[in-house]
Amino acid sequence: MSVQHGIASFEDYISSLGANTSLEFAQALDSQKELASFRDEFEFPTIRSCGGTRSLGGSLDDKCVYLCTNSLGLMPTQARNRINEDLDVWAREGVFAHHSNKYGNPWVSVEDTITPKLEKVVGGLPGEVTAMNSLTVNAHLLFGSFYQPTETRFKVVMEAGSFPSDYYAVRSHLKMRGVDPDLAVIEIHPREGEDLIRTEDIIKTINDNGQEIALIWFAGVQYYTGQVFDMELITKIGHENGCMVGLDLAHAAGNIVLKLHDWNVDFAVWCHYKYMCSCAGALAGAFVHNKYARDFERNRLTGWWAHNLDTRFVMDNKMDLAEGIDGFRVSNQSVISAAAVRAALDVFDKTSMEALRARSLVLTGYLEYLLNAMENTSKNIRIMTPKNPNERGAQLSLVFTDNTVDDVFNYLKSYGIIADIRRPIVIRVAPAPLFSTFEDVWKFVTILNQYQFK
Ligand SMILES: Cc1ncc(COP(=O)(O)O)c(C=O)c1O
Repeated sequence: MSVQHGIASFEDYISSLGANTSLEFAQALDSQKELASFRDEFEFPTIRSCGGTRSLGGSLDDKCVYLCTNSLGLMPTQARNRINEDLDVWAREGVFAHHSNKYGNPWVSVEDTITPKLEKVVGGLPGEVTAMNSLTVNAHLLFGSFYQPTETRFKVVMEAGSFPSDYYAVRSHLKMRGVDPDLAVIEIHPREGEDLIRTEDIIKTINDNGQEIALIWFAGVQYYTGQVFDMELITKIGHENGCMVGLDLAHAAGNIVLKLHDWNVDFAVWCHYKYMCSCAGALAGAFVHNKYARDFERNRLTGWWAHNLDTRFVMDNKMDLAEGIDGFRVSNQSVISAAAVRAALDVFDKTSMEALRARSLVLTGYLEYLLNAMENTSKNIRIMTPKNPNERGAQLSLVFTDNTVDDVFNYLKSYGIIADIRRPIVIRVAPAPLFSTFEDVWKFVTILNQYQFK
């Protein structure tokens, strides 16, 4: 594995520093310039405010150990200010806030204040990326445009065990379009006794069914196992077989490096409340490749926001469809939500996804190292997530046997360690590329190692 920004490889890097399980080693990693976090840019709950009752040699008013960004990211400190700015113009200017320049983000084009920074996060070009609606709504909208079934080509390939919203969205969408999901959906499973889906099985399924597949719909990072799928290869093989390729990047955006334009992905959607730290239900992301920028005849569900801005308010009901992703918009956007997304993107803009990923590889590698190095955890926990760092993001999914998962989860919570439980056997932990520290990871594994497994 080679990563940029001065870190040659995780193994070399960590052993060059004399890897061991001490707190001092964690603190030494935290003091490395190239591994510095953006911790000060975020608000942290405390152990006490998360319902914790104990601490490892500190106080209950210490920051909690937040390893749950794969579910909901923390609040950027500036979110309050950004939201207050919009409340301020709303209060003082009412409808004129649509065009107010007081804070530089008139509501009439609020997404334009977001997209340049968002393009960098997902590897999109101008005109390919926007913020609108929510993830599943965007999936339905873009299925409407890019799933075009024919008599012979109508199938949808997706990963088995996908996040439920993807499963429901695909099946309900097909049904609405008059296609029987039981005949059309091909789910790719891990092999018997395995947790992860093999890339060779994905490729074989696409090649074997190529002429019948209308759409390949895959996650970038699998929500349960943490597996990163080879999005570039899936797209390439999909296109060789004449299929459209769409991605759900809920767990990938802000987590790993994405190159949606270069990979030639047809369309993608994602949310902004996980690694993108913009609050639950935040305005979501959408990408449509610019090869469709002027494909005005493509089926789409429109609304007034798909109009070019300079003719939108002429109100003559003559659609003047905007080029690119803007022509796939429907409604005006939630400006309060956009303010939180803007606050988070301002932090992302202080770095790059390449630098964040380099840090994240070491952080998650260190988590894996400690889990394997500490005796109690190594004996009692299995890691489901791929061992190969290139095949995983920040998250490790830990498997617990013999019904301990609730007890372990509550034990961790009592120390202010916030992880994510997936009953009956999994706890997911994700040190956030932006703000988790090596000391956070050390505290988590050290406390878990003290748990009395039965
Ligand atoms: C992979 C994935 N897809 C879809 C969703 C749901 O998205 P939304 O409720 O924002 O539409 C989630 C939510 O956690 C998710 O993890």
